Amino acid sequence: MKKRVLLTGGAGFIGSHTYVALVSAGYDVTILDNFENAQKTVPARLEQITGTPIKLIECDIRDEQAVMAAFEGRDFDAVVHYAALKSVPESDADPLGYHQTNCSGLIHVAAAMQAHGVNAIVFSSSAAVYGSTDDIPIAEDTPPAPQNVYARTKLFGEEFLTSIAAANPALRTGILRYFNPVGAHPSGLIGEDPSLPPTNLVPVIARVANRQLDKLMVFGGAYPTPDGTGIRDYIHVLDLAEGHVLSLNALLNEGQSHLVNLGTGRGYSVLEVLRTYEDVIGRPIPHEIVDPRPGDAAVSYAKTALAKSLLGFEARHGLKSMCESNWAFSGKD
Ligand code: WQD
Repeated sequence: MKKRVLLTGGAGFIGSHTYVALVSAGYDVTILDNFENAQKTVPARLEQITGTPIKLIECDIRDEQAVMAAFEGRDFDAVVHYAALKSVPESDADPLGYHQTNCSGLIHVAAAMQAHGVNAIVFSSSAAVYGSTDDIPIAEDTPPAPQNVYARTKLFGEEFLTSIAAANPALRTGILRYFNPVGAHPSGLIGEDPSLPPTNLVPVIARVANRQLDKLMVFGGAYPTPDGTGIRDYIHVLDLAEGHVLSLNALLNEGQSHLVNLGTGRGYSVLEVLRTYEDVIGRPIPHEIVDPRPGDAAVSYAKTALAKSLLGFEARHGLKSMCESNWAFSGKD
């Protein structure tokens, strides 16, 4: 009997790639999404990729009754929870909206899980909970120091799930702190396609490459790094999706709760990413080095030993593959 999984936010960037990985790993997956930051074309494309009919619940996790109804009669074995807002600058401008979706929405999902005896959840968290730290590479025991509303809502999610698991020994939690997700599915059918204007580096580079933006503004050129620009741990979305399958397997098969980083353990600077993207498209990308973005850390990349030892997770894709797959998806007219 296939294990049944509810994938909230499953029409989004990382959620849709995780849907493909879960289906190919033999799970029976139902997507729940409100399409606020996902394209309506994604479910049909997922059917095309997997050859499996989509199970879709259009629902907003801020609606407690609708979330409870989504669990009725579906007998889920687990939840993979992506549904959240994730723009750092937008979160500071709209703290109420971010807490309603990212915090109250999670509470509604957890309440429905408890009411229906669902005792496993994989939670999409973020390296943003670490804030700026000199403890590089960043290990999971680095004290969280979130610097923005988005990151604080992610830390709330972690602490909330940890507290309800402490009160309910049957509940298993897999908390995954992503670093910087990049790339797209090799089919070119799904990728990073936000409805809202992107603020992340690679989607912005793609818009410059597509001539939708004049140039890339490089935020800061005088950081204490080899070329002066910020360093991050970019991880292919396919690796991230695989990490979720391993996390869910650990919860359902060994009953092993965990909190781990999902990164490559390798940092790249903004200019290194830019050069790699230029190599991929075969032409220069206009850019200008400007002042640093407030709140940005100089360097952030993951210590990856814990995910390797607990889940057997190891990122396999390199930066060139991330840029090639992003361009193959974003470069189409
Ligand atoms: C990466 C680097 C910028 C845009 C955030 C969230 C994190 C996760 C990933 C959700 C930095 C530089 C960027 C641009 C630039 N999101 N940059 N020009 O800030 O590391 O992480 O997104 O889970 O939680 O915190 O990612 O892609 O915005 O920036 O120079 O137009 O690129 O300064 O050095 P970040 P990012």
